[in-house]
Amino acid sequence: MHPAAAPSALPAPVLNLIGNTPLIPLCFAPEGVTLHAKCEFLNPSGSIKDRLAKMVLMDAKQRGLLKPDSIILECTSGNTGIALSMVGAAMGYRVAILMSASASEERRRLIRRLGAELILFDSGGMYQTGIKLSQQMAAEDPRYFLPRQFENPLNAEDHEHTTGPEILRQIGGPIHAFVTGFGTGGTLAGCGKAIKKRWPNARILAMEPAEQALLAGECPCCHFIEGVADGFVPALLRDAPLDGSIKVRSADALTMARRLHREFGLLVGTSSGANLVAALQTARELGPQATVVTLLCDRAERYFSTALFDDKSPTTTATPTPPATAK
Ligand SMILES: Cc1ncc(COP(=O)(O)O)c(C=O)c1O
Repeated sequence: MHPAAAPSALPAPVLNLIGNTPLIPLCFAPEGVTLHAKCEFLNPSGSIKDRLAKMVLMDAKQRGLLKPDSIILECTSGNTGIALSMVGAAMGYRVAILMSASASEERRRLIRRLGAELILFDSGGMYQTGIKLSQQMAAEDPRYFLPRQFENPLNAEDHEHTTGPEILRQIGGPIHAFVTGFGTGGTLAGCGKAIKKRWPNARILAMEPAEQALLAGECPCCHFIEGVADGFVPALLRDAPLDGSIKVRSADALTMARRLHREFGLLVGTSSGANLVAALQTARELGPQATVVTLLCDRAERYFSTALFDDKSPTTTATPTPPATAK
């Protein structure tokens, strides 16, 4: 592990760059629909997970849970690892990241470059293996601090108090639907609550890979939408005011992400494509006057070695995705 600088009493300026991301209209002319997308990929480490990292580590520091010799340890698919490594580096703490061996090389390099230790586990992509491993390590060494993104209520609370209100302010009028994918479920639960509180009739919808439609009661199988759907329904999602779920095929997510690159100049990852497919379907169902909001979760650069940048990987033309399933 690279030695991190000692924890600093000074503020970490990079933390001021987190959040307050722009929300932009995206006009899909052939479909005759305008969607609203919050640009979470513009957070400084490149994903929505910067918010969680800042919130949890600042809270832990304030409550005295982080000591000068603490090591922040988390199991993540990559984005949380990069975010924790960035915030940890800026605050002067050591960070160790447990990541599935299937996560992209770009993510590994960024984590190491930010000075964190990377511990890869082979689990066939199932996170519960890594989560158990982190709990074992923390039980054996009191220096480990676990942010516990999958169960930490601060995860959803931060979205309820920052991301959600930002969306409400930026739209400035009624929101008819909010749709996005889930990893921990923190974004859907937190933003969903904030939006429902202001607009009780807004539909809060979960995007999930068609190959792993757990909310629709189907069995887990492999999919290409990195960053979402880790093979189980996360605890935080059970607290989300969900009105239904929308299944998106990996191939359709890849096609849409590439369309976002080429037609809109937005260099975002595969899950952003999936979110837009789900949002388009929602807008078609609700009609052209509906305000449908979704998220562009992370940057394309961390997918160079994945199917997103492999032009021979499966793409489809506009195969309709199945209708939303009521929860
Ligand atoms: C790449 C990526 N990271 C994170 C999230 C949100 O994750 P969480 O449910 O953990 O808040 C999403 C949601 O679509 C995502 O696509």
